[in-house]
Amino acid sequence: MFNPQELRREYRLKALDIHQLDVDPASQFKIWLHEAQQAQILEVNAMTLSTASAEGRPSCRTVLLKVIDPKGFVFFTNYESRKGQDLAANPFACVTFFWRELERQVIISGQIEKLTQAESEIYFASRPRETQVAAWASKQDQVIASREVLEDAYQHYEKLYVGQKIPLPPYWGGYRLLPNRFEFWQGREHRLHDRFAYRLEEERWLIERLAP
Ligand SMILES: Cc1cc2nc3c(=O)[nH]c(=O)nc-3n(C[C@H](O)[C@H](O)[C@H](O)COP(=O)(O)O)c2cc1C
Repeated sequence: MFNPQELRREYRLKALDIHQLDVDPASQFKIWLHEAQQAQILEVNAMTLSTASAEGRPSCRTVLLKVIDPKGFVFFTNYESRKGQDLAANPFACVTFFWRELERQVIISGQIEKLTQAESEIYFASRPRETQVAAWASKQDQVIASREVLEDAYQHYEKLYVGQKIPLPPYWGGYRLLPNRFEFWQGREHRLHDRFAYRLEEERWLIERLAP
C-alpha cells in the first residue's frame, strides 16, 4: 500500500533573500511567473482559488490566471457557479500558485471585483469558438443527468450561432483580485524555507521575512 508518509523530499534548488525581491510585489510575481515559464512548467498560470461563503465555509478549485493589469489579477468563470455565489456574498479571495519544479509557492489575497461587461466581452471574443459555445452549453455546477445532456446542449448552441459572432453569456465573465497581501515561498533544506510577505501599509508595500 502506498504510504504518503514515506514521501520526503528536501528542497535545495534555490535561496531567496530580501535584497533579491522587487519593491513591487506584482513585478516580483511577474519575474517568478516568467521564470516558471522559462523552466517549461506546464500551466504556470494555474492557481488554486479559495473563496468562502457568507457563512464562512471555504471552498477551493483551480482556475487560470488570464490577465495581470495595473489593478490586479484576472480570471474568468461562470458567475452562477459556487465560487460566483461565494464572491457575490463575500468578495474576498486568495489564490495559490505552486511551481514544484522551482520549489516555489506564491499566495495572493485581497478583495474581488467583477470586470465590466465590456472587459469580459473583449476576452470572451478572443477565446476559441469551441470554448465560447461550451460556455453557453455548460451551466457550471448544475447537476446533469448524463454527458449526452452536455453534448446535446453544445450542439444546440453551435447550430444556434452558426455563421454568427457568439455573444457573451450573461452569467459568464471575469473577476479581478485586488491584492493587499502577497507571500513568496522558496523551499530550502531541512524545512528552513525562505518566506517573504508583502502587506500594504499606508499605500506602501512593506516586506517582512516570516518563519517557515
Ligand atoms: C487546470 C485547470 C484550469 C481550470 N480553469 C478554470 C477557469 O479558468 N475557470 C473556471 O471557471 N474553471 C476552471 N477550471 C475548473 C474549476 O476548477 C472548477 O471545477 C469549476 O470552475 C467549478 O468550480 P466551483 O464549483 O467551485 O465554482 C479549471 C480546472 C483545472 C483543473
